[in-house]
Amino acid sequence: MPALTIALSKGRLLDETLPLLARAGVIPVEDPNASRKLIVATSHAAVSLVVLRATDVPTYVQYGAADLGVAGKDVLLEHGNEGLYQPLDLRIGLCRLVVATRRDYDWRGSVQRGGRIRVATKYVRTAREHFAAKGMHVDLIHLYGSMELAPLVGLADAIVDLVDTGNTLRANRLRVVEEIMPVSSRLIVNPASLKLQRAAIAPLIEAFRKASHG
Ligand code: ATP
Ligand code: PRP
Repeated sequence: MPALTIALSKGRLLDETLPLLARAGVIPVEDPNASRKLIVATSHAAVSLVVLRATDVPTYVQYGAADLGVAGKDVLLEHGNEGLYQPLDLRIGLCRLVVATRRDYDWRGSVQRGGRIRVATKYVRTAREHFAAKGMHVDLIHLYGSMELAPLVGLADAIVDLVDTGNTLRANRLRVVEEIMPVSSRLIVNPASLKLQRAAIAPLIEAFRKASHG
């Protein structure tokens, strides 16, 4: 049987992905959260897992270093979607991409005045497209994490970040001022792998479809 590699994000998304994989018949032989191994074999003879930083998953699949992957729509849009087949919304990692500011910041007033607004984000490409579509000029500051801190210390007027429960925003006295899009995680597939290994990959996609859509 041909060998297939699935790229997964470590961290919070892994906890939601593993039960879904199990329902699709793919169970790691050791806990990827606990193991220091980078390549993990599974109960499925043809499938192994690689566990990566979320933002690296599309890159591995695009270049065929992994045949399939699970990645958030946020990460996929930022990556640019080139060279990736996206057959399935897995309905996990549900959250929203939003614009948020300090509660006492007059976002609407600043936008109406057309003043220069500073926005900190990990999602520079998506944020640029969002504000350009609204005809707004913003200065984007690229951060790699803890975006919520930026408005509190005067680094930025606003952030573009993910929100789920809203707890992080509340804890930092921030509020949502614009919704950009809902986010969920997608199954991604390398198109060449699909072509060459269709007999192995098509049933896996089908198993994922059943596992995620009940
Ligand atoms: P790294 O720490 O390696 O930079 P990251 O912080 O972006 O990665 P996570 O926070 O684990 O990684 O997020 C991975 C994916 O999970 C995101 O791309 C997004 O699609 C989804 N996600 C992130 N935060 C939430 C959340 N609060 N609720 C639901 N899904 C989320
Ligand atoms: C994500 C996101 C927010 C938080 C939102 O961060 O960047 O900070 O979740 O979730 P909430 O609305 O339920 O509070 P995460 O916890 O993944 O940490 P990170 O900063 O390491 O990305």
